[in-house]
Amino acid sequence: MANYMIRGAVEPQEIFFRADNIDPAQLTMIRKGLRKLHTFEIMAVNIYKFQIAGASNDLNRLIIQAMANEMTHVQDYQIKLYEYGWSPSPLRWLFWLVGMFIGLFSRLRGEKSMLNAGIWTEQKAVTDYQKIINSAKWEPETLAVIQKNLSDEYHHIETLQKHLNA
Ligand SMILES: [Fe+2]
Ligand SMILES: [Fe+2]
Repeated sequence: MANYMIRGAVEPQEIFFRADNIDPAQLTMIRKGLRKLHTFEIMAVNIYKFQIAGASNDLNRLIIQAMANEMTHVQDYQIKLYEYGWSPSPLRWLFWLVGMFIGLFSRLRGEKSMLNAGIWTEQKAVTDYQKIINSAKWEPETLAVIQKNLSDEYHHIETLQKHLNA
């Protein structure tokens, strides 16, 4: 349980207002990228959330863990959006719904289908992240967050694949 706390309390000095230091020509792409990342992660959280069943087994443990990890990604981009003075995409509920459906349907079809839905999501994340990283001139702190989360996504693919092949 040593690493159980995946996020400590946020301190005021950790919040930065970022929009003023950015080349205005980059702002549109940065906003688009952050909104996309935030919305995508909302979908990912829901896929796992709606896969969770009541059983106390390894599969459920894995899925709850996956949901919690994606929640930290949502948190990261939500904070960044507000630091820039923006807000999340008004269309994010659509992806919330898509996530719910993917989660529920894959759960109905059984363990293999659940794991495959997770792997599909994580692989889509990797592709999207790479595109978004290349789409704008990111300021170093925001870029570091995106890159850290991208490396999480690689790790998630590995974990899910290991379970699928076990
Ligand atoms: Fe994620
Ligand atoms: Fe992930």
